[in-house]
Amino acid sequence: MPLPDFIETSVEYLRAQNIPDQIEAAVILGSGLGSFGKQLEDSTSIPYSAIPHLPAPSVKGHDGKLIFGKIDDKNIIAFSGRFHYYEGFSFEQTAIPVYLTKALDAQKLIISNAAGAINTDFHIGDLMVIDAIIRQNLAITPKGRTPYRYNHYPWADKARKIAANLSLSVQRGTYLYVTGPNYETKAEIRAFRTLGADAVGMSTAPELFEAARLNLKTVAISLISNMASGVTKAKLDHNEVKKAAELRKKDFARLVKKLISEL
Ligand code: HPA
Repeated sequence: MPLPDFIETSVEYLRAQNIPDQIEAAVILGSGLGSFGKQLEDSTSIPYSAIPHLPAPSVKGHDGKLIFGKIDDKNIIAFSGRFHYYEGFSFEQTAIPVYLTKALDAQKLIISNAAGAINTDFHIGDLMVIDAIIRQNLAITPKGRTPYRYNHYPWADKARKIAANLSLSVQRGTYLYVTGPNYETKAEIRAFRTLGADAVGMSTAPELFEAARLNLKTVAISLISNMASGVTKAKLDHNEVKKAAELRKKDFARLVKKLISEL
């Protein structure tokens, strides 16, 4: 499956920055999870603005840089900052980190995000391995590409086992993708619960579908930053994302490191 033509120019630029030839895994860091970048040794950070064809993310909590470095002697790239559809980016642009992962020939991709819990058994700070997607907006395939539907999540079970071996309790569940940017109404959350959704968020699904199409070994993980609208009386506020990430950033890093080595 060919990648968008412009990716070649972006990759040429990265190669000129001495990005390693062999990359084990790529990690897309969700809101508040950018601090994972600090886990990389001998790291080099490149602002998205320097990379041809990469737009600049506009959301608080998203840095906008690509970091490469090592974890346990393996070459890793981390995307600190992602592109959301609600920022005005096309679905193709939201998937740029996925296309770069493929073009750089990385074998594994770990996608993370912050999400609101719809499942009332979940708690703020929970980590959830995504094992199914529901789309509020069914058309999430980039323009000009054959519509693609991703139905099978072969790495979710393995990711849960890896977490269990670390004695990390991790939920698994269905992520309902909304395009945002506004939070959901209480009635929508009630409806989404009856549809079988466990968590709701504004990213990941377009990236995950493109990653599956490109045959990348991919796991997607949500960090529950808040209970979704109406689940509790708490007001929704973007600062919760930072607080939840602070709470679990160490566990998140342990899990991602293990996924990189064992997936
Ligand atoms: N809704 C949608 N997206 C989100 C939420 C939410 O409650 N929390 C974090 N991302």
